[in-house]
Amino acid sequence: MASGFFILPQLSFQLVQGHTGCYRIQENGQHADQMTEVVLWGGTGHSRVLRELLSHLGMVVPAVIDNREIEAPFAGVETIRGIEGLKAWLDRRADGSIKPSYALAIGGGYGRDRLAIANDLDDLGLPPITLVHPTAMVASDAVLALGSQVLIGATVATCVRVGRCSIINSRASVDHDCVIGDGVHIGPGATLCGQIEVGDGVFVGAGATVLPRIKIGPDSTVGAGAVVIKDVPAGSTVVGVPARLQKAQ
Ligand SMILES: CC(C)(COP(=O)(O)OP(=O)(O)OC[C@H]1O[C@@H](n2cnc3c(N)ncnc32)[C@H](O)[C@@H]1OP(=O)(O)O)[C@@H](O)C(=O)NCCC(=O)NCCS
Repeated sequence: MASGFFILPQLSFQLVQGHTGCYRIQENGQHADQMTEVVLWGGTGHSRVLRELLSHLGMVVPAVIDNREIEAPFAGVETIRGIEGLKAWLDRRADGSIKPSYALAIGGGYGRDRLAIANDLDDLGLPPITLVHPTAMVASDAVLALGSQVLIGATVATCVRVGRCSIINSRASVDHDCVIGDGVHIGPGATLCGQIEVGDGVFVGAGATVLPRIKIGPDSTVGAGAVVIKDVPAGSTVVGVPARLQKAQ
């Protein structure tokens, strides 16, 4: 294991100090080992990624919820339509006092949707789960906010903060002192050099590179493969090498 990284025991913090390994942390103080059920919101590709990870952690997905009519993504797993369907399903459960945790299986540039759905699920009293794939490396002093996901082979370096419901996707690298906002998606294989500020709702496409100390404004998109060499205005899209404005706010 690389120096500076270590495995913490399973803890129950509101903000999760860095760790490697497959730990699940819950806000309400319930010990991770006591959690077995996690409902997934979203029934497309990302739900398969998360279900595989949860299954690896020994956790069960009893239901998948989606706002749209979708084909059941998993045999034997209930598919539920929207928040009203979820409420009815929770009411029908034999032991309604035990609430499942939730994970948001919504990828792409839908970070604001993730945050809105998280608010609805929080209101229902479901605890969010924070997921770190066992092959990911998270520095001991990094902080992962609730509902964030650090997926296969990703790196989160020292003094990084990852915001609520943000995704650090497969093999992405977030280097020292980066501040990642809420509802952010750092795509597969993207590289964020040090001291970068990423606003809420940002989507950084696969394989993009962002140079040190850049600020990426809220709700902006960095195209796949872009090399960002200067600040990105809020709400805009940049693409190419070096990255140029494709769409202003
Ligand atoms: C940047 C992006 C969001 C733009 O999507 P869009 O608005 O639908 O853009 P379009 O496909 O209509 O393309 C518009 C123009 O931008 C160009 N373009 C789009 N994406 C580009 C990219 N990543 N790099 C360079 N040019 C790009 C297109 O060639 C097109 O150019 P043209 O007008 O000269 O023909 C998208 O292409 C992208 O890169 N998404 C990231 C996907 C990803 O990484 N997913 C990971 C999932 S886990």
